[in-house]
Amino acid sequence: MAPQHASQVVAVTGVSGYIGSEVVKQLLEKGYTVRGTVRSKSNTGKVQHLLTLSDALPGQLELFEADLLKAGDFDNVVRGADFVLQRLERCWQGRHQEGCGYL
Ligand SMILES: NC(=O)c1ccc[n+]([C@@H]2O[C@H](COP(=O)([O-])OP(=O)(O)OC[C@H]3O[C@@H](n4cnc5c(N)ncnc54)[C@H](OP(=O)(O)O)[C@@H]3O)[C@@H](O)[C@H]2O)c1
Repeated sequence: MAPQHASQVVAVTGVSGYIGSEVVKQLLEKGYTVRGTVRSKSNTGKVQHLLTLSDALPGQLELFEADLLKAGDFDNVVRGADFVLQRLERCWQGRHQEGCGYL
């Protein structure tokens, strides 16, 4: 039997983080297809567990490199997604300062 949410795509930002990683785990357990963002896939200290998961679950978890401070980085991640979960932390102290970006 196909997983309950297999056809639904969820884009999750900041999946290398504490909360983001747990969100990805729970979404995959429920059968969602997940697009997760990290700033650098080569930062293996923070993303190796996700790369391993992505390899083990082809088509279910895809990782994208995206930085909130670079215009357009998230366009391909959220385009066509059924849901977007914004879990990254960047500007909580500088919310109104120049250079702080939002999705
Ligand atoms: N942990 C908690 O108990 C808790 C409780 C309530 C609310 N929250 C909120 O939940 C959110 C995540 O918390 P967390 O504990 O998971 O934080 P975390 O472990 O520090 O993760 C932060 C995430 O944000 C990403 N990030 C930072 N700057 C970025 C940028 N410029 N562009 C793209 N991604 C960027 C980080 O990516 P890199 O790996 O590339 O740095 C990382 O994936 C925060 O807003 C926090 O305030 C957390």
